[in-house]
Amino acid sequence: MKERIEGLRQSFEQELQRAGSSDAVEKLRVAYLGKKGSVTELLKGLKEVGAEQKKELGQHINALKRGVEERLSERIEEIRAAEEQREIEAAEQYDVTLPVAGDPGSYHPITIVQRQLEEVFTSMGFIVEDFKEIVTDYECFEAVNIPKDHPARDMQDTYYLENGQLLKTHTSAAQNFILRKYGAPVRAIFPGRCFRNEATDASHENTFFQMEGIMVDKNISISNLIYFMKTMLSEVFERDVKVRLRPGFFPFVEPGFELDISCLICGGEGCSTCHHSGWVELCPCGMIHPNVLKLGGVDPEEYTGFAFGLGLTRLVMMKYGVKDIRDLNSGNLKALSQFRHE
Ligand code: FA5
Repeated sequence: MKERIEGLRQSFEQELQRAGSSDAVEKLRVAYLGKKGSVTELLKGLKEVGAEQKKELGQHINALKRGVEERLSERIEEIRAAEEQREIEAAEQYDVTLPVAGDPGSYHPITIVQRQLEEVFTSMGFIVEDFKEIVTDYECFEAVNIPKDHPARDMQDTYYLENGQLLKTHTSAAQNFILRKYGAPVRAIFPGRCFRNEATDASHENTFFQMEGIMVDKNISISNLIYFMKTMLSEVFERDVKVRLRPGFFPFVEPGFELDISCLICGGEGCSTCHHSGWVELCPCGMIHPNVLKLGGVDPEEYTGFAFGLGLTRLVMMKYGVKDIRDLNSGNLKALSQFRHE
């Protein structure tokens, strides 16, 4: 029996060296360790051996079995490594030090204007904050004084997740977070992508960008608000643009305003972009409602502040003369690659 065990070990080793593929190794595994494999048969043969020899032979056969298993896995690994090496050698070679050919691409016009605005506001002492796109009902509505069932929610229908969270409808959703994070005084802008369940047209998208700004300190008034709005617009347009301020209702500001810009697509004559009114709603704003300050942990008896919610995508349309907002999300490189970041 011992010779048979040794004989099997040697023949297995020879056959293993000849097995050059994973299939051949698998066949060998079946031939030695399968139900009717040589090693299995040896184990079965132990029945005929006397009790005193059984223990010793059993140990030998089991050692052979373990040896065969180990060698099979080693061989499989060797074959895999050799196959990988062959693939690497056959692959096309690249010189990574060669200069890249072609167009390096450009920033999206919204990114260009957003960065420009960030520079303008940081130079006036504002910090730039980022905020998430998926928010809670509290952040988007309740924390900005829009309780459940308030009619103002009708204008901002959005996409809801099964867990009750939603895609933020306006950058105002970050107001509470910023107030709580920094307390008062604070000057911050927070640009971000917003989503609404909209019937799209030349000036309405279901996905668009806004840039919110807040300034909270002692004795902040509407004059401060108007100053910052004017500075922002003259920096972006680098010329005088006609704007108008009219009363507007938003539950999170009191008083609230709509800041409209004379449509730069038609020069105020009326076109599809401005819905034939000659004006484009650009940047609603107002003095932050005391309830919003309170919910943000700021004492409205001591501090006041203004907030604005700039329609960043619309600003880009006006700055570059883009007639249809949908062109900006179209991914049409012919259109988008005309914009270069200076
Ligand atoms: C708001 O979203 C308020 N959170 C803004 C605000 C902030 C007011 C702070 C007061 C204080 P409104 O829904 O009007 O307001 O949107 C603000 C601007 O976002 C609009 O003037 C417009 O320029 C832009 N906007 C709104 N909806 C769309 C849309 N579907 N597509 C493109 N731009 C849009």
